[in-house]
Amino acid sequence: MPNENNWDSDYPDLDKILKSEKKYEWISEPKYKKIFQEIEHSIQGVLGKGQFDWVDRRVFDQVFDRSTLLSLHKLMQQGNIETIDYPLARGKEAHVFKASSKEGPLAIKIFHTTNAVFKGLTKYIDGDPRFSGLSRRHRELVNIWVRKEFRNLKRMRKYGIRVPEPISSLKNVLIMEFIGSNETASPRLKDVNIEDPISIFEEILKMTAVNWQICDLVHADLSEYNILWKDNTPWIIDVGQGVTSRHPSANEFLVRDVTRITNWINKQGFDYSVADSMVKVLDIPVKKSD
Ligand SMILES: Nc1ncnc2c1ncn2[C@@H]1O[C@H](COP(=O)(O)OP(=O)(O)O)[C@@H](O)[C@H]1O
Ligand SMILES: [Mg+2]
Repeated sequence: MPNENNWDSDYPDLDKILKSEKKYEWISEPKYKKIFQEIEHSIQGVLGKGQFDWVDRRVFDQVFDRSTLLSLHKLMQQGNIETIDYPLARGKEAHVFKASSKEGPLAIKIFHTTNAVFKGLTKYIDGDPRFSGLSRRHRELVNIWVRKEFRNLKRMRKYGIRVPEPISSLKNVLIMEFIGSNETASPRLKDVNIEDPISIFEEILKMTAVNWQICDLVHADLSEYNILWKDNTPWIIDVGQGVTSRHPSANEFLVRDVTRITNWINKQGFDYSVADSMVKVLDIPVKKSD
C-alpha cells in the first residue's frame, strides 16, 4: 500500500503536533528531544511518513509514550531493531509491527502501558497522592506479562513446538521472529482453507501434547485466531497467558484449548469429540528432544 498522499498536506509536521500537544511536552526536553531525533527516521513507518498510508497518528498516540520510545531507543542502540516498518495488527492489549534488523524481518509486539479504561480514569487519579503508585504498578504488570510471553516462547521452542523465536524484550516491547514471507505476514488459520485439515488438527494436538507433557505449559488462548499458517504448517503465537500445570485453572484451560481446536476441525465438516482429542493430548507419547 504505497502512500501516494503527500504526508505534509495530510498531516501537519509531526514536530509541530508534538510540541502543540501537552502530553508530548516531554519531547521538547533536551534529553528526550535528542533521543527522539535519533530514532525518528527509524519509526517513519508508524509516523505516517513511510510507504504505508493506513498508518495514522492514533497509533502513535496509543503506543509510543515516553517509556516505550525510550525502550525502542535502547533496543535500536543494541542493534536489535533498525526500523519499525508498519503495523501488522492492533489489539486491545498490544500492537504488533513488522520491523527490520540487519539480520532480516522481525515482529515487534508493543503492549499498551495504559488501556482505554485506565486512560479515562487517570484524570481522577493523577495528582491524587493516594494513587501515585497505580500507573507504575500497571506498567510493572505489563512488563511481567512481556517477560512471561518471552519465556513461554523460549520454552516451547526448546521442545520443538513451532512458535516464533523470541529475540529480545525490554519492558513492554517484545521482539520475535517474523512469521511471514517477504513483507507479508502469514494469515491466521481462521482465514485459510486447508487441503488436509485432519493432519493439521493432529499436528496441533501433538504440539499441545508436547506443551502439556514436556513443557508443563497450557497455552490458555489456543484457537484458529492464534495460529498462523506458513509454508503449509501451523505456527502457534500469542503465548503470554500460558500457565504451568500448577496453576489452579490449568486443567480447565487445557480443556478449553482442546475444545476450541476440536470445534475448529468440526467446522470443516468433521465430527471429532473433545474427549477423544483430550485423550490424545494426555496420552500421545511425546519424546523429549533433549
Ligand atoms: N511473530 C509474528 N509474525 C507475524 N505476525 C505476527 C506475529 N505475531 C503476531 N502477529 C500478528 O499480530 C496479530 C496479533 O498478535 P497476537 O500475538 O495474537 O496478539 P493479541 O494479543 O493482540 O491477540 C496476529 O494475529 C498476527 O496477525
Ligand atoms: Mg492473538
